[in-house]
Amino acid sequence: MIAKKRKAGQFVIVRINPNGERVPLTIADSDPEKGTITIIAQGAGKSTRELNLKEAGDSIADVVGPLGTPSHIENFGTAVSIGGGVGTAIAYPTAKALKEAGNYVITINGARTKELVILEDEMKAVSDEAYITTDDGSYGFNGFVTQKLQELIDSGKKIDFVLAIGPIPMMKAVAEVTRPHGIKTVVSLNPIMIDGTGMCGGCRVTIGDEIKFACIDGPEFDAHLVDFKNLADRNRIYQHEEKEAGEAFEHACKLHGQG
Ligand SMILES: Cc1cc2nc3c(=O)[nH]c(=O)nc-3n(C[C@H](O)[C@H](O)[C@H](O)COP(=O)(O)OP(=O)(O)OC[C@H]3O[C@@H](n4cnc5c(N)ncnc54)[C@H](O)[C@@H]3O)c2cc1C
Ligand code: FES
Repeated sequence: MIAKKRKAGQFVIVRINPNGERVPLTIADSDPEKGTITIIAQGAGKSTRELNLKEAGDSIADVVGPLGTPSHIENFGTAVSIGGGVGTAIAYPTAKALKEAGNYVITINGARTKELVILEDEMKAVSDEAYITTDDGSYGFNGFVTQKLQELIDSGKKIDFVLAIGPIPMMKAVAEVTRPHGIKTVVSLNPIMIDGTGMCGGCRVTIGDEIKFACIDGPEFDAHLVDFKNLADRNRIYQHEEKEAGEAFEHACKLHGQG
């Protein structure tokens, strides 16, 4: 049912086991015929690493979705989709939808190093121009996604829309590159979510003068209005508990000989 209903920009919340935490993950792709969805999870901590240990045929406790407001898609003209790290997985469905809507799509996929570049072929398939950047220069353009974007702007290319998804400092930096040029820029925010249906307030973010709930009002918002400092501060609230859970999980994995 999720595979049939989902739209670009939406996500699911999964629980790996009945006592596990609720993990929001973007629906990267779906096959309505087979009834399958594709999620791509970076092993950031205990729950995502536990998920990544699953093999084909294993099961998880539950999945709820599609959640969130779908991406606003229209023919803007020239649209640049920027993905940093696992943000590329989140940007991919929206880049694909932008292409289907008739945009000239430029994708910039950044990673720290070559091994961390994901979805290169998939991104190329939905792009009119595709660039890879690596911080260490091991593959593609040597530098940050923002440098590549600046280069495109400086070359005189008319850019009508930018989508940027990745680490908070990256999204903030993209917003500052596009702000002086008045280029409409959208980011997908990743606050801590619990229910994902607008009831707990855990995912509240400050957008201009307003408080919004990212799980229902977002996760995509106007990058030039986002209070990124507030988002980063709130995402650090459970740092101590996350570290403890991660260490306990690593210890248990070592005892059971799992990677
Ligand atoms: C709408 C949305 C879509 C996302 N899509 C993807 C995706 O497609 N692929 C992907 O790899 N990651 C995605 N994330 C991030 C992913 O949810 C977190 O990495 C995951 O919850 C971390 O849990 P953990 O137990 O593995 O790590 P932890 O050690 O618990 O946390 C690591 C970091 O992840 C963040 N985090 C922890 N719990 C949550 C939570 N309940 N909700 C949101 N963030 C949390 C915090 O910033 C934390 O510092 C998305 C987040 C949101 C809000
Ligand atoms: S996750 Fe609870 S209100 Fe958004």
